[in-house]
Amino acid sequence: MRNIIYMDNGATTKVDKKVADKIITYMTEKYGNASSLHQKGQEAKIALEESRAIIAKSINARPSEIVFTSGGSESDNLAIKGVAYAHKKGHIITSVIEHPAVLETVKELKNEGFDISLIKVDSEGFVDIEELKNEIRKDTILVSIMHANNEIGTIQDIEEIGKICKENKIIFHTDAVQSYTKFPLDVRKINIDLISLNGHKIHGPKGIGALYIKEGTKIKRLIDGGKHENKLRAGTENIPGIVGFAEAVKIADFGHIRHMQKLKDKLIDSLLKIENTRLNGPKEKRLCNNVNISFKYVEGEAIGGYLDAEGICSSTGSACSSKSLEPSHVLMALGMKEEDAHGSLRLTISRFTTEEEVDIVLEKIPKIIEKLRRMSPFK
Ligand SMILES: Cc1ncc(COP(=O)(O)O)c(C=O)c1O
Repeated sequence: MRNIIYMDNGATTKVDKKVADKIITYMTEKYGNASSLHQKGQEAKIALEESRAIIAKSINARPSEIVFTSGGSESDNLAIKGVAYAHKKGHIITSVIEHPAVLETVKELKNEGFDISLIKVDSEGFVDIEELKNEIRKDTILVSIMHANNEIGTIQDIEEIGKICKENKIIFHTDAVQSYTKFPLDVRKINIDLISLNGHKIHGPKGIGALYIKEGTKIKRLIDGGKHENKLRAGTENIPGIVGFAEAVKIADFGHIRHMQKLKDKLIDSLLKIENTRLNGPKEKRLCNNVNISFKYVEGEAIGGYLDAEGICSSTGSACSSKSLEPSHVLMALGMKEEDAHGSLRLTISRFTTEEEVDIVLEKIPKIIEKLRRMSPFK
């Protein structure tokens, strides 16, 4: 079988072998229900609490402040709807570049009678802090601003946003799914009340996530049933997923960040040497594994298709809908023209990406762009 070069780690990552081994053990040998009082149950319960402690420690939280969920989307829903329903009414602030797990959630809440404000971003994807301050009202109950953007890698100043929220006694949620283990987060140093995390972006399994809920935060659970997860999320805990998630967190380290940073910079610097290109998102304050470049006169979908034919997995700034090819809401929010948004390519690397793979990609892309531009009707 031909080797695949996987550069779509922003979508999902390869499960680490050590993580997979651990998951299998908790499926085939240590398969108890953590609520059962017998030995098998207690074995699972111990693994559950050890995993919780690992996730908590990674952000300097207390284990009792971690609730396991089915992933980033559920964590975002629990954070936002949970706070909204606990307050019954009020105003919520978020940004135009959030993940659909946040944007669709606030849209739903708007239909239910909550007031929503969407903050704009600048040309690099940083939220407008002044606009955020101006939008705050007496009845603002929640601010939800993502830590790092999944498409363009912009890392927001959540320390500053946290300060503003604290001064105004507003609950602050951040979706840190993309930045988790790639950028240090310390809930004792930064004011954050709720943080969404997941497993599958960090070489852990899919279908598992967590929500950090600062002690004392007013929040209502969304899934009713048993008393699991501190009564905040009913349902038998996904022990294999949870144990795998914690193992992935344990493996992640600063050396991996440096490795990705180096390869990311090499990709960006080399691709920008191609004529008529632009970097989407900032050069600094950018996620260590994210590259997003627009190539004028070509379609990102076409670049992705040619790369796929060469065994290289990437993604584009467009989301194919059944009827039309919609440009990405994130790229459009940067003030880009629609045709430039359509010409974007996202490469997201991981700690498994090698320099050799980067070199192969850098050899292929200029040729593909040249070929596509020769055929382009836009030129
Ligand atoms: C920023 C962000 N938030 C939330 C999610 C959703 O996470 P999950 O796939 O675990 O539901 C993703 C995944 O694409 C993401 O990138």
